[in-house]
Amino acid sequence: MKIVVIGGTGLIGSKTVAILRRGGHEVVAASPSSGVNTITGEGVKEAVAGAQVVIDLANSPSFEDKAVLEFFETAGGNLLPAETAAGVGHHVALSIVAIDRTDNGYFRAKLAQEKLIETSGIPYTIIRATQFMEFLGGIADSSADGNIVRLPPVLFQPIAADDVAANVAEVALAAPQNGIVEIAGPERAPFNEIIARYLKAVGDPREVVRDPAAGYWGGRVEEHSLVPLGEARLGHIGLDEWLRRSQALA
Ligand SMILES: NC(=O)c1ccc[n+]([C@@H]2O[C@H](COP(=O)([O-])OP(=O)(O)OC[C@H]3O[C@@H](n4cnc5c(N)ncnc54)[C@H](OP(=O)(O)O)[C@@H]3O)[C@@H](O)[C@H]2O)c1
Repeated sequence: MKIVVIGGTGLIGSKTVAILRRGGHEVVAASPSSGVNTITGEGVKEAVAGAQVVIDLANSPSFEDKAVLEFFETAGGNLLPAETAAGVGHHVALSIVAIDRTDNGYFRAKLAQEKLIETSGIPYTIIRATQFMEFLGGIADSSADGNIVRLPPVLFQPIAADDVAANVAEVALAAPQNGIVEIAGPERAPFNEIIARYLKAVGDPREVVRDPAAGYWGGRVEEHSLVPLGEARLGHIGLDEWLRRSQALA
């Protein structure tokens, strides 16, 4: 089966490409560095020709509100019609848990991406994941003021990129659900406690302060704002195991 992975060189993309190739599939790892650009349209038609499945794992180079919205709208506007023309039978995209009930600029852009997929007429599955463990350092940085990291005690359930990629590959090979599948890490704990555990483990001296008024990427969050409300597939890699694996690789 020919499978195109848009963003196939990224964090989740490269892991997903490796899993699918190990399964014997013909996988195109598509990205600007390989001449496939969903913003300019370059190479898109050629890449999706003859593909049964397209997995979109691309991400915007800028997270600024307007830039990220433009990225996902333009990319969807170029990619989805090319897939329709090529007769692609399953479009899979990676989105984020709670983007329809937690407000920030990045989540609004992901919601716009989902809407384009849902109205494209292409059979699809949207996978909504919680925050990646690989992103914990970035979250700490974005919530830091000098040596203090302020975070709300809302529930948090990060998932390792290896678990995300395994789920993306599995979903891509299954029948389209024409709906949303949610995935999350195996442990749920207060946001501030998880970031504090992460910083301690990596030897980062910054102090995490529990602050109910602190938001997430500028948006207000409450107890269940970032975790799945219903049934979710759970990853196998907990935070301690992920830390062990990342320290072994460092
Ligand atoms: N971070 C989180 O916690 C989280 C949680 C849930 C879902 N997600 C979603 O997961 C997805 C993958 O994230 P990631 O962290 O794996 O991304 P990443 O590592 O930043 O990789 C981004 C990929 O997108 C490609 N790309 C950039 N511009 C492109 C364009 N114009 N056309 C085609 N490809 C382009 C890049 O290609 P080059 O290498 O050639 O630049 C790269 O392969 C994103 O959609 C994100 O919204 C993230």
